[in-house]
Amino acid sequence: MTIKISICMGSSCFARGNSKNLITLEEYIKEHNLNAEIELTGLRCTENCSKGPNIVIDNQEYNNVDKGSLIDIIKKHIEESK
Ligand code: FES
Repeated sequence: MTIKISICMGSSCFARGNSKNLITLEEYIKEHNLNAEIELTGLRCTENCSKGPNIVIDNQEYNNVDKGSLIDIIKKHIEESK
């Protein structure tokens, strides 16, 4: 099953951490050979900037995402998709 990850690329989320989160995601996908399992796309600002950086995974929005929480969230979704 494909896990859909949408990362907010709006200027606020991007400046607040999604620029780093994007690199973290790309590295994690590459390191774990998850290209076939994860679909990574960008999102426009959803006007929820104050809670950012925001990332949506399988229709569930996560706020204030940093590197540590991002890895935990990805692992959880991978586990659930098995
Ligand atoms: S920039 Fe991400 S919600 Fe506005």
